[in-house]
Amino acid sequence: MTWDRMAPGAPLRLVPLLVLVVLGLVSALDPALEEAAARDPDPEAAAREYLRELDHDTGVHLNRASLAEWAYASNLTEHNLKRKLEVSAEVAAFQKEAWHRTVHFPWQTFRDPDLRRQFRKYSVLGSAALPPEKFEKLEKLTSEMESIYSTAKICDYFNQTKCDLSLEPDLVELLTHSRDANELRHAWVEWRRASGEKCRGLFERYVALSNEAAALNNFTDMSEMWLEPYEAKDFRDQVRELWEQLRPLYEQLHAYVRRKLQEQYGEAEVSRDGPIPAHLLGEMWSSTWKNVANFSAPAVAQPPPDVSPALKQQGYTPLRIFKLAEEFFISLNMSAMPDLFWERSILEKPADREITCHASAWDFYDAKDFRIKQCTRVDMEHMFTAHHEMGHIQYFLQYKHQPVVYREGANPGFHEAVGDVMSLSVSTPKHLRQVGLLRDEGPRDDDASALNYLFLQALQKVAFLPYAYLMDLWRWDVFNGSVTSDEYNCRWWRLREQYQGIEPPVDRTEEDFDPGAKYHIVASVPYIRYFVSYVIQFQFHRALCLEAGQFDPNDPMKPLYACDIYGSTAAGNKLKAMLQLGSSRPWPEALEAVTGSRRMDASGLLDYFKPLYEWLKAENARTGERVGWGPSRRACVSTRDELERLRRPDDMMDANKMEVDKMDAEMGGAVAAAAAPEAVPEVAAAAAAVVPEAAAPAADAPVPAPAPAAVAAPSDSVADEVVPAAEAPVDRR
Ligand SMILES: *[C@@H]1O[C@H](CO)[C@@H](O)[C@H](O)[C@H]1NC(C)=O
Ligand SMILES: *[C@@H]1O[C@H](CO)[C@@H](O)[C@H](O)[C@H]1NC(C)=O
Ligand SMILES: *[C@@H]1O[C@H](CO)[C@@H](O)[C@H](O)[C@H]1NC(C)=O
Ligand SMILES: *[C@@H]1O[C@H](CO)[C@@H](O)[C@H](O)[C@H]1NC(C)=O
Ligand SMILES: *[C@@H]1O[C@H](CO)[C@@H](O)[C@H](O)[C@H]1NC(C)=O
Ligand SMILES: *[C@@H]1O[C@H](CO)[C@@H](O)[C@H](O)[C@H]1NC(C)=O
Repeated sequence: MTWDRMAPGAPLRLVPLLVLVVLGLVSALDPALEEAAARDPDPEAAAREYLRELDHDTGVHLNRASLAEWAYASNLTEHNLKRKLEVSAEVAAFQKEAWHRTVHFPWQTFRDPDLRRQFRKYSVLGSAALPPEKFEKLEKLTSEMESIYSTAKICDYFNQTKCDLSLEPDLVELLTHSRDANELRHAWVEWRRASGEKCRGLFERYVALSNEAAALNNFTDMSEMWLEPYEAKDFRDQVRELWEQLRPLYEQLHAYVRRKLQEQYGEAEVSRDGPIPAHLLGEMWSSTWKNVANFSAPAVAQPPPDVSPALKQQGYTPLRIFKLAEEFFISLNMSAMPDLFWERSILEKPADREITCHASAWDFYDAKDFRIKQCTRVDMEHMFTAHHEMGHIQYFLQYKHQPVVYREGANPGFHEAVGDVMSLSVSTPKHLRQVGLLRDEGPRDDDASALNYLFLQALQKVAFLPYAYLMDLWRWDVFNGSVTSDEYNCRWWRLREQYQGIEPPVDRTEEDFDPGAKYHIVASVPYIRYFVSYVIQFQFHRALCLEAGQFDPNDPMKPLYACDIYGSTAAGNKLKAMLQLGSSRPWPEALEAVTGSRRMDASGLLDYFKPLYEWLKAENARTGERVGWGPSRRACVSTRDELERLRRPDDMMDANKMEVDKMDAEMGGAVAAAAAPEAVPEVAAAAAAVVPEAAAPAADAPVPAPAPAAVAAPSDSVADEVVPAAEAPVDRR
């Protein structure tokens, strides 16, 4: 639900004044106008008045919409759904009407920069700018794709008559726990067959309509509109540079994990120096790798701390977990949660109705009502999630005095980052001890446990980076037309190979549509915000830790990864000053308020992981790993027929995907490519693009779109995971 901005009823009397203003600029010599200007010392007064009403009316509409949205999400009945749709249609109509009025103001010429800024934000309506039939069609396309995605089922590998496995929880569980390469490959392939492949045609139409909508908002295409909130012409270059800064760390992690996977699965599955097969990394999209930690951690015998048992032993309840999180914020001299928050939040799964359990934080746009909805389990993961969600509420509280149009993160990456910054402190063993959840048991090897802790963090934070980057690299090019539908999938795999060093477990074709096997693609949720969030959260963390005196670059006893800002009012005041800005200032200013720098910079993240990076380099050198990767063994061609023909040299027919795959592994993608070079452009291209160390950065980066203001923040809200919430609805990654 991306409602984008709305605008309210403006008085007609504004119009004549407006004309005056415009003419005034054009011909200042006209005496009548000069006289008018003399009578009206503030020529922008009318616009200011319009905005004041717009702000008020927008707040009222967003409040109604959020309430209806909440009523449904927290009580899934037909009646509540109907009501929600009614209200959202009303609100959309209001927005559109106001938008027409807004864009008639000559706001680009306003002298007051703040006025200009608010008008600029209101001038982007989003897809509601389409004529009603087309708008409806676009909504239908995305809901159809979402519905395919959320109802997709596959059969069990070991029992072909059991065909009710869904993504959540079955396949998530399977990818997390199975160590059987065949079962994993089956799940990987079948999930894509049941989800993405069925969305290809819908997606093509979605792209065309989205671009039409973007044009109505005066953008060249949807990628430009998605990038708009980042307010920088060179934003793509900025992101590319960040990735270049991070790539050496990622490649070391990649080389090390590949070796561990090879030990686990054998050389037939995992090559020594190629890309990593995508089905073995513990998650459907290979975007976070935490689930392979238990056989790949540097010190397997010394697992990272798990406070889940302590939480249960000490009788924690969901409420007490949230009180603990609140206490963290209060210790930083930030706000306590208002009474209404405790009254209206849903912190436990209710027994008397169906609800959407996905954790989310909600702003109701009346400056009083803020809520979290989370089916809290009493365990460590949910404890972090509670802190994370409360980070969103804290942001809401701090900017509640701002005009409605500024009640959002400085850019879409900021909202996500705040909660994660808290989690970086909360998850340290030091903090867990301080709150009595971790006891020192006997002597421990601190170096080994620190390394393990960092490694686990890296599997979540570092592994995620290239994925978070390429998701929108691909979509930017799709929207701007430089990648056309006949090359959607092969282009996707080229990026996956180039940036992540990942390859599909079997050959792919343009009859597959693997991007569509990911929620945010079919649900039209921009992704670069997560990349931004992952980079800047470490910038924030470093700055706040310096402020708190918990990190000293010259003191080996105070490394960044061990810093806990708990109790530092100095750090809290600094962060608070930034949160209070909302989006009223360009984000570099907000960034500067905390970090002293106006640029995004990956060095915070690199500082944090430095000890791990040094260790990985030494370890990879010791075992002689190739850092980087050679070309993939997998082909990507236009059609499945073509794939068949490529394989025919052996006269093997085939059919069964597994068989084919095996044979393909023997043949190698390169051979396949040679067999029909003209048919396999992607293979050749991929090989060229992927020269490991040389991998040229592709052109990149843009950004997301209009904040789904209304719904409560889900959009920003986030993840119920401590980590990267990989899947899920708008609010997760
Ligand atoms: C859920 O919504 C229905 C209306 O569809 C309402 O009658 C019921 O009281 C609601 N339940 C709760 C617990 O709010
Ligand atoms: C296979 O699945 C079907 C349907 O769920 C079930 O009835 C049957 O018992 C299963 N067979 C085995 C061998 O588990
Ligand atoms: C790692 O986890 C998997 C799945 O949860 C389990 O089967 C396996 O035994 C674990 N391995 C180790 C070394 O603990
Ligand atoms: C698009 O640009 C045209 C020409 O500058 C302008 O008249 C129109 O109001 C703009 N539309 C929007 C939605 O900003
Ligand atoms: C806490 O914040 C308030 C403003 O919100 C400020 O006036 C006060 O000085 C701060 N306290 C400390 C100890 O920094
Ligand atoms: C699309 O954007 C890419 C950068 O991502 C650029 O290289 C390319 O020239 C653009 N293509 C078109 C058709 O605008």
